[in-house]
Amino acid sequence: MAATKVPYGVILLCFFLGTCLLSQCFAIGVDANQTARLFVNASQTRPIPDTLFGIFFEEINHAGAGGLWAELVSNRAFISGFEAGGQNIPSNIDPWSIIGDESSLIVSTDRSSCFERNKIALRMEVLCDSQGSKVCPTGGVGVYNPGFWGMDIKQGKTYKIVFYIRSLGSVNLSLSLTSLELLHSDVSNWTKVESLLEAKETNHNARLQLTTTKKGVIWIDQVSAMPLDTHKGHGFRNELVQMLVDIKPRFLRFPGGCFVEGEWLRNAFRWKESIGPWEERPGHFGDVWMYWTDDGIGYYEFLQLSEDIGALPIWVFNNGISHQDQVDTSSVLPFVQEALDGIEFARGDPNSTWGSVRAAMGHPKPFDLRYVAIGNEDCGKKNYRGNYLKFYEAIKLAYPDIGMISNCDGSSHQLDHPAEFYDFHVYTSASSLFSMAHQFDHTSRDGPKAFVSEYAVTGKDAGTGKPFGSTCRSWVPSWSRKEQVDVVSMASYAPLFVNSNDRRWNPDAIVFNSSHVYGTPSYWVVNFGNNSVKLKISVDGLDPNSIKLSGSTKTVLTSSNLMDENSFKEPNKVVPNRILLENADKDMDVVISPHSFTSFDLLKESNLSRWKKLIHSQDPLFKK
Ligand code: AHR
Repeated sequence: MAATKVPYGVILLCFFLGTCLLSQCFAIGVDANQTARLFVNASQTRPIPDTLFGIFFEEINHAGAGGLWAELVSNRAFISGFEAGGQNIPSNIDPWSIIGDESSLIVSTDRSSCFERNKIALRMEVLCDSQGSKVCPTGGVGVYNPGFWGMDIKQGKTYKIVFYIRSLGSVNLSLSLTSLELLHSDVSNWTKVESLLEAKETNHNARLQLTTTKKGVIWIDQVSAMPLDTHKGHGFRNELVQMLVDIKPRFLRFPGGCFVEGEWLRNAFRWKESIGPWEERPGHFGDVWMYWTDDGIGYYEFLQLSEDIGALPIWVFNNGISHQDQVDTSSVLPFVQEALDGIEFARGDPNSTWGSVRAAMGHPKPFDLRYVAIGNEDCGKKNYRGNYLKFYEAIKLAYPDIGMISNCDGSSHQLDHPAEFYDFHVYTSASSLFSMAHQFDHTSRDGPKAFVSEYAVTGKDAGTGKPFGSTCRSWVPSWSRKEQVDVVSMASYAPLFVNSNDRRWNPDAIVFNSSHVYGTPSYWVVNFGNNSVKLKISVDGLDPNSIKLSGSTKTVLTSSNLMDENSFKEPNKVVPNRILLENADKDMDVVISPHSFTSFDLLKESNLSRWKKLIHSQDPLFKK
């Protein structure tokens, strides 16, 4: 392949050849007349690594709690509040609020829960009654939970409500999302209440209420409300998972990011605290992104999600280092054991110690865990190399086939420690990202492969999701040039999700709130250059007449205004548009729109029958 060399304009040209997908991606130049030539040698295509395109999920921006995890109740165990909490009493019950005043109700917390790892329960002392000297107000007194910035309740959908209750006397409690009356004579021991409610109407801003008009003391704990129709019934919010499925990620890196490290080690994500029955998970305060998570989406759920979306899991674990404190290498072995146990949990035989815990949670078959990352962005820290080697050696010994990812950059010099991959993160302006197109050209081919697990254009180029900022996506195709295709194995944009009510980091690929979702241009991929470009494409190395008009397409993602952003109101303002490529041929004159990302998919004769089948079964464009 050769191309004239002047800045601006990029196309992605994809060929479907043979039995596997081969791709050629080119940065091309444009001359003063805005005309460019692109020469493609189709006989020398190189396969893109199977794993190249993936996703990185971090618990940031309420991506999981109040996001991908479909739990509607925020602070279901009464211990967290949004920014504080833990197992102390009195605890912060925010965002729960009290219905009634001090003359009719006293609300507090105590440590009387039946869950050993989660001792706090809500105590409601009801001072009013349905009759007598102090009559309860109409509707009763109690508490309500507004969810994560409003619960989205849809007419006709069914919600499973679970909570635990105890009282010394009989209770008369109303539960309303829609409305349910709960009359129980004997709840002197903790009693699990479970019911299915069908919503009678749609309300994007609903709340869950627990109220009573009966005098007495009631304890409540572990209140959950989940829609029944989660993705594959595994607890993930359907429309958010669909956004992931649609981009066909080959891997899922999780659960962070800085979330894995913690500002302090005591607040880092610990996988053993995130598994087992949800009622027993203590939850933790993510002190980097400053919010509580009940760890409903825990280690098991991340593995399950990977399997559900057809992506390989890549587990990032803490290596004894946080932002502020670190474990000395001489005392890091308990952390190493924790990582080994975590691998056994994922991959072990159902009879193994931790494999049996996984099996008990509903997945006897091992998960396909092939890669783990030893820490996140810790290379510069004092104990990193020492700690890393302890992890690396122990894991290699127990699991020789696992690919391990170092935090140290191996793109410009060889690593001084063994690794199968090295992590590479970049957040910068659009221009400096473009100037990095050759970042991996001279990297040693003998060393570990690059895993670009976090990249994005940030700052004013990007806003909260402008097309200009999305130019970074074209950085990925640049690696599939022949100079780099054998160096960069995996890449993922970051961050993946943002709940619009808690923007901790901009921009992000997918924006949602309780009821709506859209992809920013980075989700879709955009490119830049402010003039249209005439492009002459010449393809060598193909049989004459082998390109077929009937199946070749052109997909363009563009926007007339670089400042355009998608929004809940206009979720499809900047989205890709695919049309039939009418002049598909070995030699083609095409026009590349300004500020666009353009992909040409040429259909080759030999694959026609295979593609016809695919096209007719799946593609609305060809169904017409
Ligand atoms: O993606 C946001 C943050 O950026 C990640 O937590 C961290 O790894 C990086 O610094």
